[in-house]
Amino acid sequence: MKLFVINESFNSEARVAVSPEIVKKLSIGGCEVFFESGAGNASGFTDNDYICNGAVISVKRDFSECDVVFAVNPLAAVDISSLKAGAIVISIQEPFNHPGNLESFAKNEITSFALDLIPRTSRAQYMDILSSQASLAGYKAVIEAAHILNRSLPLTMTTAGTIPAAKVLIIGAGVAGLQAIATARRLGAIVSAFDVRSAAKEQVESLGAKFVEVEHVEGNDGVYAKEMSDEYRMAQESKLRMVIPQQDIIITTAQIPGKRAPVILKADMVSTMKRNSVIIDLASKSGGNCELTENGKIIEKDGVKICAFDNILNLIPHDASRLFAKNVYAFFELLTQNMVKEPDISKIDDEIIVGTLMTHGGKITNERLRR
Ligand code: NAI
Repeated sequence: MKLFVINESFNSEARVAVSPEIVKKLSIGGCEVFFESGAGNASGFTDNDYICNGAVISVKRDFSECDVVFAVNPLAAVDISSLKAGAIVISIQEPFNHPGNLESFAKNEITSFALDLIPRTSRAQYMDILSSQASLAGYKAVIEAAHILNRSLPLTMTTAGTIPAAKVLIIGAGVAGLQAIATARRLGAIVSAFDVRSAAKEQVESLGAKFVEVEHVEGNDGVYAKEMSDEYRMAQESKLRMVIPQQDIIITTAQIPGKRAPVILKADMVSTMKRNSVIIDLASKSGGNCELTENGKIIEKDGVKICAFDNILNLIPHDASRLFAKNVYAFFELLTQNMVKEPDISKIDDEIIVGTLMTHGGKITNERLRR
């Protein structure tokens, strides 16, 4: 099988879908790996690292003869049109944001898999790029906030006096939020966190943070958050208004799958924060949890810095790529039954493969995308 790894650095993407370690495994498995020159540079992997592990460097993007293409991001239209019929594409696809790609894949008879549609089941955990990347995003958000904040995080006693611990509030305690809590705790901050899902309380407390409770109204007992009622939003807002003025850092991660992120921090709430405090909005790509957020920018309002990185994973690309590549490899192993044969997609009934498959044989096959 001929595989191709795309260089995405032209798209302001620092990550690469396949690391040298994974090239080695693919080569041992009998695959020929063609690697677009420079694709690993921004992640700290040189072309030579890939060559040493069995890849063939391709100086230009020519995958017309390749069976499988790996990428981090959705492909550009021009790339889709240069794939051979029957080729397989494995990447994040964001099908709801790129409906044109979906049509092109079907029209060109490409078999496309969306790593962002991998079911959130225990069996799929090894392949779950959403979790691996969110975990690093949560970590990096705290590190960036600590860097931007003009004071220290831990309680520090010196002969010149005592510096109290900084206060950090995490809004949304999913994968990114929990990692942010753990990181802020390790740095010595006093951490509190909030989530609409009642299951999050125990997880937040097990990490040594305080759970901010919204009393007397409905919670969310499911695995995924849903949009909450107006009554709930008002109760949440009045609770948050009480805790926000004490915080030095607020990290927001609240998202609802397939929907715009809820606006939780209104402009007038931000104005009650301490001067020089920092907000990191990790939900900025899906609209932002803070009303003032401008995606891709760090702005200052009422003395508060509001930071929305376009792609925070670009600030930690080495590890982000390593984990992404491991997820991709786990998925590819499942697809090819440990690389013993080329996959016959039409015969596969595995729930992970079926849930992730977008198009095959000229058709949109995925139930979630056909609606
Ligand atoms: P996400 O990125 O979709 O959302 C982040 C967090 O924001 C969630 O915890 C959500 O409840 C919260 N949120 C949404 N609206 C909010 C609001 N108005 N106020 C406060 N918080 C709000 O979530 P993520 O990290 O993708 O995880 C979603 C669920 O999937 C979690 O229950 C997680 O445990 C589960 N999961 C399961 C996996 C598996 O079994 N393989 C892997 C990863 C996650």
